[in-house]
Amino acid sequence: MRKISIVGSLNIDFISNVFDFPKIGETIRAKNFHISPGGKGANQAVAAAKLGGDVELIGKVGKDKYGDVLIESLANQGVKTHNIKREGDTGRTFINVDNKGDNMITYVPGANEQITKEDINDCLPDLRESSYLLLQQEIQQEIIEYVVDAALGLNDCKVILNAAPARFINEKIIQGVHTLIVNEVELEFLSKDYVHEPQDLTRQIDYLLHKGIKKIIITLGDKGAIFASHSDYKHIPAFKVPVTDTTGAGDTFIGAYTVAKTEGFNDIDAIEFAVKASAMTVTKHGAQPAIPTRKEFDEFFKKIEEDSFNG
Ligand code: RIB
Repeated sequence: MRKISIVGSLNIDFISNVFDFPKIGETIRAKNFHISPGGKGANQAVAAAKLGGDVELIGKVGKDKYGDVLIESLANQGVKTHNIKREGDTGRTFINVDNKGDNMITYVPGANEQITKEDINDCLPDLRESSYLLLQQEIQQEIIEYVVDAALGLNDCKVILNAAPARFINEKIIQGVHTLIVNEVELEFLSKDYVHEPQDLTRQIDYLLHKGIKKIIITLGDKGAIFASHSDYKHIPAFKVPVTDTTGAGDTFIGAYTVAKTEGFNDIDAIEFAVKASAMTVTKHGAQPAIPTRKEFDEFFKKIEEDSFNG
């Protein structure tokens, strides 16, 4: 099996379920509250591992009880954690999930922004064995740049960047990224200086391809995803399910897509696999606990196939 390395964030998520998001100046009562392991890096690592990948996460948590919880949760779900270092306070997020399952997230980066270049140097032997390197943007830009640069010097290691949360990406990163994965908000942000119509996906995609990104995947929530490269453009529809909580759906998509690529799927088949895996995640509460295992995935879709065959 080909290895996936992820350099990214680990957060403890404080999640309130609310009827509607609060307006400015408004105080609202939550329906319920729970604490759950999260962070885009950690969620993507868990998704890739649960769906059958050989995954290690490189990151940093605090020397507090939440750091213990996050590392233990990752290890229990099959993610290699020996490159997670400890310093300061664990990253935290405050998440409201409304009745439709949509979320609003505020994050406090904590230890995620204390990853240093030395920490990355310590992991280079592991990075050397990876066929895919996955990054998100809840860690510092200079670390992303450093890792992308290091990956360029490695044999056949492809960099996938999930440009979330939305932030400016410099030329150096653009040139080193093999596949960019964004949602519509992030795509609009990355192309806003050149494309002024927010809904003009085609021009936004063209602009980024022109800048040097080789492959772009846009996740569209309940509308599925788009794959675009210089030679292809394809819309992959969503798999319709009842939505409970969309937190972690994008992360499931990215982890699933990456695993499928390590298994030799082509891009479109990998995206179809990822769309189905993230559909399963939105049917449950929270990020990591909601992500399906490969066994759950196979059983779920086998049953759907059998049901449709039997009418
Ligand atoms: O993508 C969802 C994740 O974003 C949450 O788990 C939260 O930690 C934030 O990082």
